[in-house]
Amino acid sequence: MPEKTPSHLPKHVAIIMDGNGRWAKKRYLPREAGHYAGMSAVRETVRAGCDMGLENLTLFAFSSENWKRPKTEVGALMGLFRAYFRSDMDELVERNVRMRIIGHRGRVASDIQQMIQDSESRTAKNTGMNLTFAFDYGGKEEIVAAVQELARAAKDGRLDPETITPELFASRLFTSALPEPDLVIRTSGEHRLSNFLLWQSAYAELLFLDTLWPDFDRATLTAALEQFAARERRFGALDSEAVA
Ligand code: FPP
Repeated sequence: MPEKTPSHLPKHVAIIMDGNGRWAKKRYLPREAGHYAGMSAVRETVRAGCDMGLENLTLFAFSSENWKRPKTEVGALMGLFRAYFRSDMDELVERNVRMRIIGHRGRVASDIQQMIQDSESRTAKNTGMNLTFAFDYGGKEEIVAAVQELARAAKDGRLDPETITPELFASRLFTSALPEPDLVIRTSGEHRLSNFLLWQSAYAELLFLDTLWPDFDRATLTAALEQFAARERRFGALDSEAVA
């Protein structure tokens, strides 16, 4: 572990991994080469998170809007997920990582659905870092699905609408087992959430880095966590100086 671990770790880091295409373009390579390099960055980031004792890491791997990309690119991304599950599951199990995948599920190929299920059940009893991939994920879709579920319950008389609280609502989201992210990082210089964890990020610190995702490494993560530790979070209250 070459870098020191930041003193005040966030409980949950969520990352929008952006910039694979630009990384490849800068090198006159096809976009797929950028995604391949992005997979190595995923591997390194997961290892770094485990080594630092991070409790929750969530990575935006494929958005529900990414289906609009050319077929060849979508195919290449799906191929990478297959490759990642095949090559990294043993290490993740060894590192006591608990895997979760949040997203639509029904739209991806059946062998990938099977891999997702296997990886979740194989790691279900693990007690180390929670590693969550947002895969075929869209925040608005997630919220609408939760609303539909609550509306159905209300319609059937199983739920009094007056009893719906933010906590009850959050318990119907894909992320019900996880704390809200306290740090959301987006790489590649874009300043957007792009439909990622919209409800869950209400109070998250947002950190936008110019680094392109394939260049993200242990040192970048450490520096991001140092920046987080330096920020004071107030959750709508006054800062400690104003209160004193
Ligand atoms: C955004 O870069 C990235 C994605 C759409 C996919 C993220 C995929 C990976 C990091 C690789 C594989 C991951 C796993 C888990 C095996 P972009 O293509 O939008 O980049 P650009 O904005 O520069 O074009």
